[in-house]
Amino acid sequence: MGLHGIRGRWCFLSGAADGLGNAIARELAARGMNLALFDVQEGKVATLANDLQALGVEALPVPVDLADAASAAAAVAAAVDRVGPPRALIHDAAVLTPRPFREWTFDGWRRELDIILQGAFVLAKGVWEPMIAQGDGSIVFISSGSALRGFPLESAYTPAKHGQEGLMKVLSIEGAEFNIAVNTATTGAPIDTPMSWGHYTPEMRQQMISPSRLAPAFAYFAALDARQATGLRFDAFQVSEAIMLQSQATRV
Ligand SMILES: NC(=O)c1ccc[n+]([C@@H]2O[C@H](COP(=O)([O-])OP(=O)(O)OC[C@H]3O[C@@H](n4cnc5c(N)ncnc54)[C@H](O)[C@@H]3O)[C@@H](O)[C@H]2O)c1
Repeated sequence: MGLHGIRGRWCFLSGAADGLGNAIARELAARGMNLALFDVQEGKVATLANDLQALGVEALPVPVDLADAASAAAAVAAAVDRVGPPRALIHDAAVLTPRPFREWTFDGWRRELDIILQGAFVLAKGVWEPMIAQGDGSIVFISSGSALRGFPLESAYTPAKHGQEGLMKVLSIEGAEFNIAVNTATTGAPIDTPMSWGHYTPEMRQQMISPSRLAPAFAYFAALDARQATGLRFDAFQVSEAIMLQSQATRV
């Protein structure tokens, strides 16, 4: 399926209210994809849904706290009941609380893991059987440099992101026979988002790029199936640059 194949199909997107998720939602809608917008920020996803509908696509705000597994499972099941099996699931929602290990409580640590890693499990679980029935699908977990390396003050975020990579590897193997692509996508660059404002050093802030520069890659990811690419860790910045270059070459 080419990028145009996503037109009229549904993407379930977590973390849509702010930052990269918001940019992805706008990019996919501009390319004709319908969106179910999962986020804890109820007012922002309602506003975003109105903006996307004005672009001519369908948009369903799904206010949910992904740290609550039962609520998250119910939300994804209700979205499937309402719009059918999604073509793509993109799990973008995350929090990063920079904190020394000696100051973490178990409950605080657990909440961060639940949003990132448990959220990946619950969302993927909710779309898995519908995607099998549909005969294809693409699942993407948004990754990070923290999925491969350890960083100080990240004793929740770093293991959660490592865990997402492991879940992706297993699901990509199990999804192959059902033509479900399962991949991760790292940003490839620090991005100018609320998450970054909270923890990047002044040097890193100088290198930040707009999340909209990464968004085209997610149209490509949403169109994937397991025959094309699965079990991979993409660099969203590089993929977006390639898409933009290709579209410029086509225009010449
Ligand atoms: N900011 C960066 O430079 C950077 C670098 C590497 C990877 N990432 C990853 O990119 C993705 C997007 O990050 P961002 O910078 O846009 O972050 P952000 O903080 O700007 O946005 C995160 C979104 O997740 C939502 N969210 C938070 N807790 C939630 C919960 N309990 N339930 C539902 N939704 C919840 C927020 O409301 C928000 O809309 C994340 O997965 C992050 O780990 C970011």
